[in-house]
Amino acid sequence: MARIPSLLLPPLLLLVAQTTGLSTVNLGAVEAKPIDRQLISLSIDGPQRVQDNLTETMYNIFEPGNAEAVNTTYSKRLFQVLAQNSGPEQTYIFGLNLGSSLSFLLTPAFNFKTKHFIEITAAATYLNQSRILAYEVGNEPNLYTYTGLRNASWNVLEYADEILDWMPRLREAAGGQRFPGYQFGTIAEPPSAFGDFTQVQLAVMGVPQAIGSNVCTTQQAAAVTIDYYLNHLNTVTYFANWVDEIAAAESLGLPFHMGETGTAGCHGKDGVSNTLGALLREIDYALYATTLGMRRLFFHNGGGGVFYYSMWEPVALNASSPAHVNPTYYSMLFLADLTSDLPTPRVHRLRHLDTYDLAHYAIYNDQTFTKLVILNTHLYNDTRSTAAASRPEKFVNVSPVLGQRVQIRRLTGPSSVAKTGVTWKGQEEVVERVADGVVRVAASEGVVVQVDRTSWAMEALVHS
Ligand SMILES: *[C@@H]1O[C@H](CO)[C@@H](O)[C@H](O)[C@H]1NC(C)=O
Ligand SMILES: *[C@@H]1O[C@H](CO)[C@@H](O)[C@H](O)[C@H]1NC(C)=O
Ligand SMILES: *[C@@H]1O[C@H](CO)[C@@H](O)[C@H](O)[C@H]1NC(C)=O
Ligand SMILES: *[C@@H]1O[C@H](CO)[C@@H](O)[C@H](O)[C@H]1NC(C)=O
Ligand SMILES: *[C@@H]1O[C@H](CO)[C@@H](O)[C@H](O)[C@H]1NC(C)=O
Ligand SMILES: *[C@@H]1O[C@H](CO)[C@@H](O)[C@H](O)[C@H]1NC(C)=O
Repeated sequence: MARIPSLLLPPLLLLVAQTTGLSTVNLGAVEAKPIDRQLISLSIDGPQRVQDNLTETMYNIFEPGNAEAVNTTYSKRLFQVLAQNSGPEQTYIFGLNLGSSLSFLLTPAFNFKTKHFIEITAAATYLNQSRILAYEVGNEPNLYTYTGLRNASWNVLEYADEILDWMPRLREAAGGQRFPGYQFGTIAEPPSAFGDFTQVQLAVMGVPQAIGSNVCTTQQAAAVTIDYYLNHLNTVTYFANWVDEIAAAESLGLPFHMGETGTAGCHGKDGVSNTLGALLREIDYALYATTLGMRRLFFHNGGGGVFYYSMWEPVALNASSPAHVNPTYYSMLFLADLTSDLPTPRVHRLRHLDTYDLAHYAIYNDQTFTKLVILNTHLYNDTRSTAAASRPEKFVNVSPVLGQRVQIRRLTGPSSVAKTGVTWKGQEEVVERVADGVVRVAASEGVVVQVDRTSWAMEALVHS
């Protein structure tokens, strides 16, 4: 995959800062934040009620025009799926249904007070509790008035009341096993958008759902464009909503998770959410959030051919919608490769160098600077009529901090809006090497750069 860059670099493009920016990487070790190896995780909605004698693992009821099941029932086999379809160290945050508990009051036969107990008792019975990181009580509770799950008097105090009422009883219902703990509360949108459901207000561990814009109506969908996402400074601005929230969680010594996120609410937009551009934004989004102190981000995943922001859809829907991965899947490969050889990975943003189309992250192993991540968030649309125009490139001189002999691992694809053909290192152990410390990053590419410690005898300057 690697293209050999011209060694005759236009001098204006040799832009990076031997003086100011890169020299701060060693100072950055002090401020660097830990990178969780599962920083980029998945959020999957679904289970609403458990029934022991269900013949299926899960039974979904759909309504026309709605890609989300309106009614989901699961059996104990769901827990076998969770236990057996991932490695033994994979943990889950298991959601309990808070929202519809009151609506079951309408059915006299159903005692809603036992509802959470059925869910949590099933989880405690059928899944080794070491696999559960936390139980989450309620999904998007700040929207319950809007979704009809509570009446107009619903507010953060009622929510806190219900939660405090449930917590000790759930802990008890989970029985003698080690109780994993709770995660709160997957608040939809920036947390003050629908009444003040902020963690600052709740003063508890926070899990806002966070999807910046949405495609829920035609008008809102029209406003969702790749230009917005493929812009590092927009990503930085967006996270201003969470700084106080993270601080509130940190002050209690609790990890802050972004519980459900993605490009655009109502499952993303075709041509935006399922592109290389969305992938670069996802990596930038996750690394930047980490520098602010967020611990993990859960990207929403779903099926049916219409969850455009899903990382993958492992089951073919029909002939025209086969099983496939979307570009955003590569965020996991990128992050795994970035951190797998670092016992204590940490990240610091080199903000002095950043522009709307260039993001720089210094990666440390504990206090030792080891790698640079450079993301070029410049739009490159190869379908334009001026397709002959070559892809714009940036050149970053990393020699002040990494020396001249460096290795480059490259994330690339045909264009910002490419839905296929995205590769990470060409999908193999492809490592580019340069001898002058100058790293080329084309529009809508990302690279990981580190010192090249391999032998240079008889090597060409760049090869793949
Ligand atoms: C399955 O269990 C439900 C209650 O959990 C009960 O209403 C239903 O009759 C049972 N069905 C069968 C076939 O046993
Ligand atoms: C949800 O599904 C269950 C079992 O399939 C059914 O008993 C119940 O009536 C359904 N509820 C709604 C609101 O559709
Ligand atoms: C649960 O998992 C832990 C950690 O893997 C293990 O030590 C323990 O034996 C398991 N418990 C049961 C009941 O299988
Ligand atoms: C709203 O629901 C609460 C229970 O959550 C109830 O106490 C209250 O009376 C209800 N208010 C109205 C106006 O129906
Ligand atoms: C495949 O499923 C999608 C999503 O439900 C639908 O829009 C499309 O018409 C289906 N195609 C075929 C060939 O059935
Ligand atoms: C890419 O170019 C095509 C053809 O000019 C245009 O229709 C499309 O809107 C452009 N996409 C973006 C994201 O700029």
